[in-house]
Amino acid sequence: METAPDLNHPDFIADPHAVYCRLRTEEPVHWNPSLRGWVITRYADVSKALKDPRLSVAKLQPFLDHAAPETHRKVERVSAVLANWMVFNDPPRHERLRKALAKYFMPQEVARLRPLILQRVEELIEGFRGRDRIAPPVDFIKSFASPLPARVISDLFGIPKERIGDLRTWSENLKDFVALARATPNKYDRAKAAADEMVAFFRETLHDHRRNPRDDLTSRLLEAEAGPEGLSEDEMVSTLILLLFAGHETTASLLANGLYWLLRNPASVEALRRNRSLIPGAVEEMLRYEGPAQTMTWIAAEDLQLGGADIRRGERVFLALNSAARDSAVFPDPDLFKIDRSNNRHIAFGLGIHFCLGAPLARLEAQIAFDRLLSRLSGIRLETHQPVWHDELVTRSMERLVISYDIAA
Ligand code: HEM
Repeated sequence: METAPDLNHPDFIADPHAVYCRLRTEEPVHWNPSLRGWVITRYADVSKALKDPRLSVAKLQPFLDHAAPETHRKVERVSAVLANWMVFNDPPRHERLRKALAKYFMPQEVARLRPLILQRVEELIEGFRGRDRIAPPVDFIKSFASPLPARVISDLFGIPKERIGDLRTWSENLKDFVALARATPNKYDRAKAAADEMVAFFRETLHDHRRNPRDDLTSRLLEAEAGPEGLSEDEMVSTLILLLFAGHETTASLLANGLYWLLRNPASVEALRRNRSLIPGAVEEMLRYEGPAQTMTWIAAEDLQLGGADIRRGERVFLALNSAARDSAVFPDPDLFKIDRSNNRHIAFGLGIHFCLGAPLARLEAQIAFDRLLSRLSGIRLETHQPVWHDELVTRSMERLVISYDIAA
């Protein structure tokens, strides 16, 4: 490739797919000088890499090793929290951290949450639908996509409704530290403050649940504490923070990106209105078409070869899930949004040992949400025609999604 693409350029942020397509064709394993890492764009290579034990998710220590003393001081506490996240741990520790929760997130367990999710969905729609049949335009992200997963996760944690606002703020402040490759003002200070407050809050939540056990995720985590592979209190606090973080922004983006592309394809809206059994397939297509987790950043734990390139130990590897999702070798007509796509083998939830633990929950939330939105609102229209996408490589989310609609039932 003659010139390396600038993955910070506003054109790339607005629409990365042309660049991904060029990379898949011309240089599928590409060294990007400004990212100082390898960008992997083909489905076959990304899938292979996600299952390759020579690639590690333990990227925290290399970051700390290179951080300036001032940054080091600021991120000490937040790093201690992240060091216990299963998503930043390789085996064997990864297995112990994941096992403590794996059962709770099995599809059949998650299915029990249907009535609760339905109730939260109905409350939110009721809240923004307007009274007296007046339907003002709303920012779908602020009114629905972001609060829904925050409410569901706080129900699972068993924490009071009044604290949901805090959870959302903490999760957003942590996001810039975890998900953003570049510097933003006060990024480390905000992450530090969020980590301090979250640790205190979740420690108290655990103490409260120890005194009064309930039928929720926090009590389930505490039950495992006593066993031989149980988690320490610090590990449990970190795990709760991970679940909040991993489950909130991603699900919000699935709902918003999904609705955006659905509304850009009016025939699909009509098809779903006529036949609700198409909704699960439509949600899979939303995950494929503009997935919330754009890129995974892993690290080579040893020298390896991938797609003909020599990757050295310690080098960063950006696994572009959203590029893999448009690879014509796997998806016929990859740039078409097709809600009835057959054999949709997208990898929006990753693959291998770190496959998203919350996938059944995210799917259920999205399926219920789209079903109820289509039932309760008619004539949904986009008011945001050119969304402003957040300037991030790791996630894919937009700042605002304004819609208008006519009230139905
Ligand atoms: C549409 C929504 C979601 C998307 C697109 C998504 C995506 C992902 C991806 C790509 C990974 C793999 C990370 C890696 O390989 O480095 C992952 C891991 C994970 N996700 Fe999700 N996620 C979503 C929702 C959720 C929810 C709702 C929860 C929980 C409440 C959750 C919890 C987790 C956890 C705990 C991991 C770490 C698994 C491990 O390391 O073993 N996610 N997610």
